[in-house]
Amino acid sequence: MNDIQQDISWIIRDHQVKNVDLAKELFSMKNVTTSRRFHSQIPGYQMSPLRGLPNLAYMFGVGGIWTKDESSRLQLNSFKVLGGSFALYRYLQKQLGILGEDTPFSYLASQEVKDKVGDITFASATDGNHGRGIAWAAKKLGFKCVIYVHSETTIRRIDAIKSNGAKVVIVDGNYDDAVRQVAIDAEKNNWVIISDTSWDNYTEIPTWIMQGYLTLLGEAQEQFSGVGIVKPTHLFIQAGVGALAASVIGFYHALFGQDAPKCIVVEPENAPCIFESARINDGKPHSVTGSLDTIMAGLACGDPSPIAWEILSEDADAFVKVPDYVAAKGMRMYATPLQGDPFIISGESGAVTLGAFASIMQEEGLHELKTKLGLDENSQVLFVNTEGNTDPVHFRQIIWEGANPVPKQYWINR
Ligand SMILES: Cc1ncc(COP(=O)(O)O)c(C=O)c1O
Repeated sequence: MNDIQQDISWIIRDHQVKNVDLAKELFSMKNVTTSRRFHSQIPGYQMSPLRGLPNLAYMFGVGGIWTKDESSRLQLNSFKVLGGSFALYRYLQKQLGILGEDTPFSYLASQEVKDKVGDITFASATDGNHGRGIAWAAKKLGFKCVIYVHSETTIRRIDAIKSNGAKVVIVDGNYDDAVRQVAIDAEKNNWVIISDTSWDNYTEIPTWIMQGYLTLLGEAQEQFSGVGIVKPTHLFIQAGVGALAASVIGFYHALFGQDAPKCIVVEPENAPCIFESARINDGKPHSVTGSLDTIMAGLACGDPSPIAWEILSEDADAFVKVPDYVAAKGMRMYATPLQGDPFIISGESGAVTLGAFASIMQEEGLHELKTKLGLDENSQVLFVNTEGNTDPVHFRQIIWEGANPVPKQYWINR
């Protein structure tokens, strides 16, 4: 085993035929349309850009590199608001007995709705981005919100949640401890939990959250058609609890069945719960424990979401876990593009997939993975930049001061 194989581990699946039934049920075009219709009526909504990086693609020897750039989604710097807002929408519709209808956002924010559903407090645990999205949506709709964060959450992330009107509770431990604590406190206080991860008898809201992410995928496919591309051939998608990855991978399998792009799930080496579940390979989700120490705050999750794992275990093609310097490199690659390519602001969790791809294309020790994935001049590779500058101090430390440097033996020499 050479050095890079000690740093970057991978598992590849060789499914003969994938089971895409669940993907088709959860991520149908009808669900994509519903989610897009809802988000497009939120004041300030705009499609996020799909940015091409043709010069980087040429340098790495692939046909195209495309980044769906969520860095300024609804001015909240992350894709996360798509899921939380859609779950609140669905929840209120259900309370009103109008689930399945098209309900104007302005109606949900009206006094009439408050009179009908009463005084609701929405609650959730977060590593930052999800909580900020829920707080924002609850405030826009005029409901109360309590967000639980773990003790390592930076003050910038906490302030971003508070500035959207939510109360913030700090819990000792990691993200998974915050998830457990909010579940206990919500029960006592009669709060409604809007969690992106599922557990026994709690799957409806996490499913709505995954369906809310479909908006970015519907947009991306429309944008691909605009440039004459039917679908990407490969997609690299980052995972925390796995809800986003399940939504992205499920969407492409619902749409293209066995001809879906090759789907690669990327995680931090210190929080690889999806990777571990794939490694153990008994069909069940498996947790990892410990401090989950990583600069990728959005991916620092030890418990996979069981419903997300159901999709990922069937439909993902490869699982990769990487050290922090890979994410930092991805951030610098986006921030200092090759001449002619666009500049993209990407935070740690947003950029890790580009960093992982660069290592796979550059490093001789990962050549087998590159070949098995079929990454070549015909490939059109899709990334989702899931966050922008969500923690400005860390962002500057990495981009300006060179924090988390790539070890010298992996420096590029061409
Ligand atoms: C920026 C960012 N990217 C990716 C993810 C991963 O999403 P999931 O937890 O659904 O896997 C998160 C989760 O919070 C995030 O904040």
